[in-house]
Amino acid sequence: MLNHITINDKIKFFKKKIKVSSDKSLSIRCVLLASQAVGISKIYNLLESEDVLNALKTIKKLGIKCKKKNNFYEIHGFGLNGFSIKKNTVINAGNSGTLARLILGLLIKSNKKIKLIGDKSLSKRDFKRVVDPLKIFGANITCKKNSLPVEVFGSDFLRPIRYFENKGSAQCKSTVMLAALNTPGTTLIKAKKSRNHTEILFKSLGIPIKIKSNKYYDIIKVNGLNQFKSFNYKIPGDISSSAFFIVLTLLSENSKIIIKNVNVNEGRIGIIKILKRMNSKIIFQNKKIYKGEKIADIYVKSTTKFNSINCPDSLNSSAIDEFLLIFLVAAKAKGISTFKNLGELNNKESPRLDIAIKFLKLIGIKVLRNKNKIKIFGNPKLQLKRNYIMKNFLKDHRVFMMTCVAALAFGGNWKIYDKDSINTSFPNFLNILKSLGAKIK
Ligand code: S3P
Repeated sequence: MLNHITINDKIKFFKKKIKVSSDKSLSIRCVLLASQAVGISKIYNLLESEDVLNALKTIKKLGIKCKKKNNFYEIHGFGLNGFSIKKNTVINAGNSGTLARLILGLLIKSNKKIKLIGDKSLSKRDFKRVVDPLKIFGANITCKKNSLPVEVFGSDFLRPIRYFENKGSAQCKSTVMLAALNTPGTTLIKAKKSRNHTEILFKSLGIPIKIKSNKYYDIIKVNGLNQFKSFNYKIPGDISSSAFFIVLTLLSENSKIIIKNVNVNEGRIGIIKILKRMNSKIIFQNKKIYKGEKIADIYVKSTTKFNSINCPDSLNSSAIDEFLLIFLVAAKAKGISTFKNLGELNNKESPRLDIAIKFLKLIGIKVLRNKNKIKIFGNPKLQLKRNYIMKNFLKDHRVFMMTCVAALAFGGNWKIYDKDSINTSFPNFLNILKSLGAKIK
């Protein structure tokens, strides 16, 4: 089977309401927390992508029963540390950094040795960032040259920790919060602002947690060893998946889109704030709150003239998965856009900062880089006519989907490899594009 697609036509104007795939961050967190709850949890609208299916496989391997019913998944939890682990258990987290890091937080009390592995992309990523704090809890945990495989053998002598999370990484913060669940006493985390789904879920499940916030940091206190009951949850749409359609609509002519029922958690809407500053028309409609999370329909209209931006790095964490798309808008803006402190982008499924720069140069955009700071010289008349091939990006799903958006918005004849990568987060991506009129072979 061919694992590439071709795009030879720009997308024509469209006016549509769509639904994107369910939130990946919330799906993985719900699966992991349901595995620690007492009783049967029901998760509706669970994202059925590879990252989340790997989360289900992982808890099954750890002795938790999961069943797919009509329109929900049932997960049978036995309470905190209720895993039953066989000898020589190997967990394969596939491509998912969130699963691989967060599950380690739940394994620090395991009574058998567990080995955690992942695919080629995950095996290149940094695990020292979670192994270090878990060691302070007292877990027996090691990693090879700061990355996978990680081996963890729990301990009965865990102690609460004080931890300073200064990368703006929700994964590191959440791993420590999950470890705190199985640890006696109060763990204290000072964390640079990042998506706070774990905190909101803890609150809605009645897990004892206290949070004090200022503009840049949250001080989070988690009280361990408190059992919590099973729960029902209906996962909303994913803003990171919506982002491809937001940017495609902005860059296309005379088009409009409404994306229904999307999670617009404050720690995720950096892209919206940045694009609005660049003169984009984006409106949240029908806002509501569901179990502490903000949900809205997102209305977007094409924009003809984008401003450049000097992007404050305080927005980096809340836009972390969307920079590839933000750079496409900067490529079309009038003037020079500046982005700084983007080092974390190179710690994603692929080295996304390096790949983004190569990509912008490929489409004829001037980019200057000074370490982790880049300047993008926008060209409001950007129109592509040549042949382009996109491959060798470590099957990074977001690189694949960003390239499709660029091809449909800017033109040119494109051959884009690794189409299966969309199964990581957004299996329906190409079908939705086609429903808007995109010609994709
Ligand atoms: C995620 C957090 C982010 C993000 C990832 C999902 C999460 O990673 O890039 O796609 O669900 O917590 P970091 O926390 O490492 O920045």
